[in-house]
Amino acid sequence: MPEPGAVREPPPSASRSRRLAWPGVIESYREWLDVDASTPIVSLGEGATPLIEAPRLSDRVGARVLLKVEGANPTGSFKDRGMTMAISKAVQRGAKAVVCASTGNTSASAAAYAARAGIACAVLIPEGYIALGKLAQALIYGARVLQIRDNFDRALSMVRQLAESYPVTVVNSVNPDRLEGQKSAAFEIVEALGDAPDACCIPVGNAGNITAYWNGFQQYHAAGLATRLPAMRGFQAAGAAPIVEGRPIESPDTIATAIRIGRPASWEGALNAARSSGGSVRAVTDKQILAAHRLLATEESVFCEPASAASVAGLLANGAEPGSTVVCVLTGNGLKDPDAAISQVTVPDAVDPSLPDVIGGLGW
Ligand code: F0G
Repeated sequence: MPEPGAVREPPPSASRSRRLAWPGVIESYREWLDVDASTPIVSLGEGATPLIEAPRLSDRVGARVLLKVEGANPTGSFKDRGMTMAISKAVQRGAKAVVCASTGNTSASAAAYAARAGIACAVLIPEGYIALGKLAQALIYGARVLQIRDNFDRALSMVRQLAESYPVTVVNSVNPDRLEGQKSAAFEIVEALGDAPDACCIPVGNAGNITAYWNGFQQYHAAGLATRLPAMRGFQAAGAAPIVEGRPIESPDTIATAIRIGRPASWEGALNAARSSGGSVRAVTDKQILAAHRLLATEESVFCEPASAASVAGLLANGAEPGSTVVCVLTGNGLKDPDAAISQVTVPDAVDPSLPDVIGGLGW
């Protein structure tokens, strides 16, 4: 027992309790973000996601591969990093309502953070092309959800028009506060590795995230916190690859509904990130995406959603510099899209609760 009044050494578990008390992206990276003392912080403890080694993938490509598991964020995707900023700043400016178009994850995140802030949230989603888990999230968090009989690009254009006539804040990644928050993932990667990786593989949809990561890596590099910059390697789905093809895609199509986008808002940002980092934006087929989706679960025990697996599909298809360090960003949780997983496996028939039937059923 320490003597009364004695100065106590922190217990050995202090670093653990500090982790448990992780205050979220804004408090953790305050000096890198455009916030001030009067910004009301709306946080659900986002960020500080695992960066895990991927030994089997590493063997396959002959490089050290790590996975940034963004599905571990509060609503199950990287969007929470940007949404804590977008909603906090919207509330600071007096917003009473926010609106977004979404392929699912943005709507889930916006709905959650708006509910936390006590403001209204409206989301426009493409009818029939949003994973069930994401729809469930937007609805249960209490957003006003409207399905549009068209794709994401049209929904986003409706949102922009709405914002011209109504006093609502758009919380898509066209809102610069979103990208500010999302760059924090790059900071975490540099902190975990002690430097930037050689390459960063990332799925590209509306192209905000690759833009945000590149900003984050550049800022840490400029501040002397990293000695190098990673090659940014973006991957689009082949049926929705406007940046790769150099033209808008009118009817984008892919199993990876999260990145089913034909006119990315941050097109220039993605091109700039790829060009100035010595990286690229390439396409991966749905077949390659699904193979990577399954491989990540069976070989690395990470269950992500199909769009997220585009980063690993791209790495597997294009290879890595031998001996380099590569981070693949897994943007969303696999539980968001149970249908995509179930469609790849065989769901077993039920058997009677008798030992022979169970043994027979297990094929033992
Ligand atoms: N991965 C997932 C799981 C996503 O939900 C998204 C985008 C991306 C990757 C691509 O990121 O748009 O910054 O290039 N989802 C948006 C949404 C469009 O509405 O949830 P991006």
